[in-house]
Amino acid sequence: MLVRREVPEDRDVVGAVHTAAFGGPGARDVPEARLVELLRVAADTVPELSFVALRGDEVVGHVTCSRATVDGAASLGLGPLGVLPGDQRRGVGSALMHTVLGAADALGAPAVVLLGDPAYYGRFGFVRAEDLGVLPPEPAWGRHFQIRTLTAWQGAPVGTFRYAPAFSQL
Ligand SMILES: CC(C)(COP(=O)(O)OP(=O)(O)OC[C@H]1O[C@@H](n2cnc3c(N)ncnc32)[C@H](O)[C@@H]1OP(=O)(O)O)[C@@H](O)C(=O)NCCC(=O)NCCS
Repeated sequence: MLVRREVPEDRDVVGAVHTAAFGGPGARDVPEARLVELLRVAADTVPELSFVALRGDEVVGHVTCSRATVDGAASLGLGPLGVLPGDQRRGVGSALMHTVLGAADALGAPAVVLLGDPAYYGRFGFVRAEDLGVLPPEPAWGRHFQIRTLTAWQGAPVGTFRYAPAFSQL
């Protein structure tokens, strides 16, 4: 398996990966696939933090980060992360996560934030964001709202997190 930066030619296959990953067989018009497209159209995707995983020549996984804010300061929202059903549980998701977190760290970002299953994301160093003062826009997100601090983290920014507008357009 290889991981590389997403390029414009990956657009359709990236949509197909999320449609299959989140929707299952025969799915169409899956919100996560639409989200990737809306983020791209709004130029809220961070190109340096968008990666695909390849098995041979085939794209089998994708992850992206988008521009977000914490109390008005620049932040990063991670997601969606998706792997083709037939390629799951072979380390593809982990490879994409380690790659995107390492790249975000190299860019000097203080932290990456996401909404997801703590049972999965805990292994990558994510913790409950509220414990570090980063509050979800929806209080009900609770422990699923997580943060991974990076080298540049110095206890800030803290406050209420806001995803890019595309997340509210689904
Ligand atoms: C979640 C996902 C990205 C993981 O990708 P993957 O390539 O299967 O992950 P890896 O092979 O690196 O890791 C597999 C491990 O994660 C675990 N795992 C997968 N999804 C999990 C979840 N929702 N909660 C807890 N553990 C999970 C597996 O049980 C496995 O554990 P093990 O190694 O102890 O057996 C993939 O299953 C997927 O695309 N799922 C559908 C879309 C989705 O839910 N995306 C994440 C939310 S944004």
